[in-house]
Amino acid sequence: MKKKKIVILTGAGMSAESGIKTFRDSDGLWENYPVQQVASIEGYEENPRLVLDFYNARRKELLRTVPNHGHLKVAELENYYDVAVVTQNVDNLHERAGSSHVIHLHGELMKATSSRNPNDPACICDISPEHPEIRLGDKAADGSQLRPYIVWFGEAVPRFEDAIREAETADIFIIIGTSMQVYPAAGLIRYIRRGIPVYVIDPKVVPVSCASPVHTIAKGASEGMDELFKILLKE
Ligand code: APR
Repeated sequence: MKKKKIVILTGAGMSAESGIKTFRDSDGLWENYPVQQVASIEGYEENPRLVLDFYNARRKELLRTVPNHGHLKVAELENYYDVAVVTQNVDNLHERAGSSHVIHLHGELMKATSSRNPNDPACICDISPEHPEIRLGDKAADGSQLRPYIVWFGEAVPRFEDAIREAETADIFIIIGTSMQVYPAAGLIRYIRRGIPVYVIDPKVVPVSCASPVHTIAKGASEGMDELFKILLKE
């Protein structure tokens, strides 16, 4: 019998219990770093060293981080459902927890690319944990300065088309740990079929408007996923 399809949109809150700061909670990343300076194409062009150092620090933090129970439960859903994870996160914790189909809308911290043509597949390369830093003077395959494979504010989100195709065929849509403030990611919910169930796991109230019944689980990712398993699998 064909498995039902689940699409899960995750954000920084998914990795909070792994010790990685979110962006907009109190003491979040954007409280301590000026977004424009470290997460925009203008900021990179103005001061590439500052931006390279910012992502080098986040990459080294990631190497000291492990998936949390919530990531593991998301991966475990694949035993019962056809699961597509659409994440805004640039960490690799979903993959390391065992999720096999992950679409990164905002890029990947453990990858680097060309600063001339960031979406040229020939220039997107893995960063090894042994040499986690990108430095000025490091070159991409096209000879340009190597840069983080991150989608910065002001840049296109090429994987959004793939995410839409997944959302359009979802039987269940789950949102975990995102404030739904950044587009196009937050707009993904507009592509789900009318009436399919939507579950939101977040300790705070998150604005979700859609033509579907929305079930809110006001808990963290780990506890929330345990509760969701009980609901979905009538455990
Ligand atoms: N479990 C689940 N959710 C949590 C937890 C937790 N333990 N802790 C916090 N949250 C929730 C917060 O309540 C909030 O709704 O996670 C959400 C985090 O929101 P943001 O910090 O805005 O992160 P996110 O929505 O992923 O940001 C989207 O903005 O700056 C850009 O590119 C960046 O991908 C990021 C995008």
